[in-house]
Amino acid sequence: MIALGCDHAGYPLKEALKGYLDSIGRTYTDFGTYSEESVDYPIYAAKAAHAVADGTCECGILCCGTGIGISIAANKVKGIRAAVCSDAYSTEMTRLHNNANILCMGARVISEEKAIELAQIFLNTPALNEERHQRRVKMLEDIENGKL
Ligand code: RB5
Repeated sequence: MIALGCDHAGYPLKEALKGYLDSIGRTYTDFGTYSEESVDYPIYAAKAAHAVADGTCECGILCCGTGIGISIAANKVKGIRAAVCSDAYSTEMTRLHNNANILCMGARVISEEKAIELAQIFLNTPALNEERHQRRVKMLEDIENGKL
């Protein structure tokens, strides 16, 4: 199950991503928002991020105007590693090296076609099973727990 969320600016991109996920048979929970009426992105980031953090959803995809605000908000939730991406290389690397669990994208930055390409990469790239990367991801938890 994939957690989806967006604000008003990201709404068209989220809808395009739902069409892509439907076409490949991937299930998702849409945490809103559900229109282009102006809303506050932290609300939707929090809903989706909590679902990923508590294991209800295996990962998430969030959209706002730039992808930045909604990623900052998602990263406030313990256990979330949300990455803003606008290119294929960064998207692949944030799965391989950072084990990112939420992909954030900007509807005012990239096209729907690019967002679908990046979602495909994000969903199909496993985290590398290498000690140095796992050690660094563990250190992110250490920061959350006040140990670093
Ligand atoms: C909304 O206008 C815009 O500020 C928001 O979608 C996002 O880009 C914030 O980071």
